[in-house]
Amino acid sequence: MVKKYIFGAPFETDAVVCGPEECSREYDAQNGTITTENGFCFHYELNDTDVIYGLGEANRGINKRGYIYVSDCSDDPDHSEDKTSLYGAHNFIIISGARNIGLFFDYPAAITFDIGYTKQSVLEVSCERADLYLYLITGDSAYDVAKQFRKIIGKSYIPPKYAFGFGQSRWGYKTAEDIENVAKGYRENKIPLDMIYMDIDYMQDYKDFTVNSERFPHFPEFVKKMRSENVRLIPIIDAGIKIEEGYDVYEEGAEKGYFCKREDGTDFAAAVWPGWTHFPDVLNPDARAWFGAKYERLISQGIEGFWNDMNEPAIFYSKEGIDTLNETIKEYADYLKNKEKSGEDTPADGLFDELMDNARALPSRVKGAFENLQNSPDDYRRFYHNVNGKMIRHDLVHNLYGFNMTRAAAEAFEKIAPDKRILLFSRSSYIGMHRYGGVWTGDNKSWWSHILLNLKMMPSLNMCGFLYTGADLGGFGCNTTRDLLLRWLALGVFTPLMRNHAALGTRNQECYRFENVDDFHHIISVRYRLIPYLYSEYMKAAQNDDLYFKPLGFVYPDDKIAIQTEDQLMLGNEIMIAPVYTQNVSGRCVYLPEEMMFAKFCPDGSIYTQVLDKGHHYVEIALNEVGLFIKKGKRIPLVDVAQSVEEIDMSTLTWLGYEGAEYELIEDDM
Ligand code: GLC
Repeated sequence: MVKKYIFGAPFETDAVVCGPEECSREYDAQNGTITTENGFCFHYELNDTDVIYGLGEANRGINKRGYIYVSDCSDDPDHSEDKTSLYGAHNFIIISGARNIGLFFDYPAAITFDIGYTKQSVLEVSCERADLYLYLITGDSAYDVAKQFRKIIGKSYIPPKYAFGFGQSRWGYKTAEDIENVAKGYRENKIPLDMIYMDIDYMQDYKDFTVNSERFPHFPEFVKKMRSENVRLIPIIDAGIKIEEGYDVYEEGAEKGYFCKREDGTDFAAAVWPGWTHFPDVLNPDARAWFGAKYERLISQGIEGFWNDMNEPAIFYSKEGIDTLNETIKEYADYLKNKEKSGEDTPADGLFDELMDNARALPSRVKGAFENLQNSPDDYRRFYHNVNGKMIRHDLVHNLYGFNMTRAAAEAFEKIAPDKRILLFSRSSYIGMHRYGGVWTGDNKSWWSHILLNLKMMPSLNMCGFLYTGADLGGFGCNTTRDLLLRWLALGVFTPLMRNHAALGTRNQECYRFENVDDFHHIISVRYRLIPYLYSEYMKAAQNDDLYFKPLGFVYPDDKIAIQTEDQLMLGNEIMIAPVYTQNVSGRCVYLPEEMMFAKFCPDGSIYTQVLDKGHHYVEIALNEVGLFIKKGKRIPLVDVAQSVEEIDMSTLTWLGYEGAEYELIEDDM
């Protein structure tokens, strides 16, 4: 059952689309107490064994208990264990134990989830203003609660079928030739590939919706040529619009008043990749429609998918931030001068210049002002959105920017190409955005711990509606290693978004760059063999408001070990996955909550199977192998390897698993 409570005057986020009609101001305290005097605070006494699920794209475990999390969309590439905010804001949690209660705090500014951090037995959710909707869901199990929640937030985004293929990306592909070489590297080594992503360098001076004509001289022809080889090009779109005379998107936006404004009505300027930019006011429906329509420029050149980035929105610095820094530096310079005059410890000649050059040597105040330039909370208070004629300060709706940028694109696609599915995913998001696109989990690192973080985020994201998800395989930051990439790809085989992406300046990470390329060919081939299953399970999850990835505890709620197992996941209704995420091992321990068939895809193309009893096992899985576990009495479809999704030959379909099981295969040609 879902109940909706209203506190104060909430902002309409559009997260919930089919919620209860009735809304109550009388809150029932048996489900936790609420105070609204100094901001909003929800307080709940936890039982020792209560598990807290949810929070979507958040740090740490599947069970969120024992830490503090802040929904505050942040452009922070260091996803270390201590971080409390990442790129998304997904304010849905499930308290699961003797009772199962779901809570969605529909509040678009920063909100804190203290989940047994201050006090182990206390869950506290608090935010500065008591203006929000609270949705309270009760159910028979955590799984039941999650499905009820999914119903009220509306159906999840469905990408085109090709987007279930493998994609290669790198920040640093600059020319058509770079891209052709990547395609060649894959095709020559017979490693399947469906997409090559185009990072910011394809643009003219980082201007959205432009293509650099020197580096991509005949872009539509190039897109067509790649398409004829079954490779789709997927360009990035950033949030900031470069301020440059003659750039029509800038000029139009400024003229129509579609950019976010300062309090005095002037357009707020922030520096991002292009230098000074304005942010389209995507919370204003007119501006949103205007910005979304611009995607047509690339669609008309043959583009069929996009990734939206820097949409927290990320800010390198603002004019106001620079002014504050300059003032602090000036104050410090004056101080040094006065000191010099008064004859105290005279600073050596040129010290000031040296200080300016070397931020590390600057005294802490200057250093603080310098560090505060990027993604500064002060800047988020410096600009406004026009929402139905009312100016709303950005920090109060901060977590809705990425959502609405992506919505802008998706709403436009309905007009531009109503009969087509277009690939779309975003870095920043809020619940509700799951109806318009997927998410990738941002700038992770080539760390073994990030394979596990990737795994753990997946079911939590699914609970919040985000089904088309995945991480930068191999790691975005830092130099990857061959074994790390292979192990991570073996998890990526199962994530709907399967993309290898790396940062500028890091070691080359395309699969064909490493020794024994056959191993990469083999791992990615397994993905293509499984696509009929993965696609069918994705479609079922999307159509039935279900989860594609589930924690084991959702399927085996009475099995304590299953509930506590966080490095294995249920995928769809037939299989369990247990990827290897440690270095220098030849296999791993797995827990089977019931009898299952272990199936291992071996490098010679054969499949080793063994029925294993309920309980603990050690399974051997080499670097060039992929393992999965088929539930008792189930089977899954398999096809022969293809070089792209389009080339999959359904007439090669066979079955893997228990004899005689039923399976509903979902096929379409989109
Ligand atoms: C951001 C994105 C990353 C991209 C880079 C350059 O860091 O998260 O994926 O490669 O910007 O566009």
